[in-house]
Amino acid sequence: MRKPKVLITRPLPEEVVAPYRDRLDIDMYDIDQPIPEEKLKAKRGDIDALVPMLSEKLDDDFFRNTSAKIVANLAVGFDNIDVESARKNGVTVTNTPDVLTETTADLTFALLMNTARRISEAEHYIKEDRWKQWSPLQLAGTDIHHKTVGIVGMGRIGEAVAKRAGGFSMDVLYHNRSRKPEAEEQTGARYVSLDELLQTSDYVVCMTPYTEETHHMFNDEAFRTMKDTAYFINTSRGKTVDEKALQHALENGEIRGCGLDVFEEEPISANHPLLGLKNVTATPHIGSSTTETRYRMMQLCLDNVTRVTAGESPLTPVT
Ligand code: DGY
Repeated sequence: MRKPKVLITRPLPEEVVAPYRDRLDIDMYDIDQPIPEEKLKAKRGDIDALVPMLSEKLDDDFFRNTSAKIVANLAVGFDNIDVESARKNGVTVTNTPDVLTETTADLTFALLMNTARRISEAEHYIKEDRWKQWSPLQLAGTDIHHKTVGIVGMGRIGEAVAKRAGGFSMDVLYHNRSRKPEAEEQTGARYVSLDELLQTSDYVVCMTPYTEETHHMFNDEAFRTMKDTAYFINTSRGKTVDEKALQHALENGEIRGCGLDVFEEEPISANHPLLGLKNVTATPHIGSSTTETRYRMMQLCLDNVTRVTAGESPLTPVT
């Protein structure tokens, strides 16, 4: 029997892929770069499944012209995919929820701590041989414990961040499209309006998915509403933030600092004005990037592909 043809748009470790080869005919783009559009176009009509990354924008044109029955996105977010067109064209879309929740919450908290305690700056300081003496306010940061964190977007990862915040004796506020009584019970988080969250949080953490509604929700007005001592942390999606407004807020002391793992345009260029600011801590979209978690994400994609190409229901459909 013919094995279903799967195109994976990056080289994945053979030890992850090998167990699937007896059921799937797997072709991987062999360069660790976004697959060129013309290569994807050339193959899209001759595959049963596609495993894309966030770097692949799959639009209506793709879905109208693909033979794939499933697109298994290697990410929990799926704003790179025209899900409506996939649905119209009968293509199942899956993502990778749950397996990356704790890992992404770890990075979110690490970024918050790094930003507040100036760890990256301190590392440069010592490695550049600038540490000549102890001084009372040398690289003084801001406390984390017993402060207020406001989580915007209380999904699985938001909840995992709230649990970590509890361990630091923080007061946890959240704002979400709807209240989450279970999360409130489990984490002690308190639901407030977005305005109240922005006005009262010492740390504002963006965990909301990117949609038309959340486009630039962190804009001039939002940053002006925050305390001038507040820190803004984003490990969700860069386009939820108007980066010009963020830059203005950081340069004009409207907020104290920020920690960013995601950007409006990725990869962000090193010359971007935001990266030139001392009060910006930045990482290159590594929220879920541990070997264990990335392996689990890859396996989940391939499990979804195996199931859907065998006529079974997917484990983690995007609904
Ligand atoms: C996701 O899964 O959506 C992350 O942003 C990529 O790791």
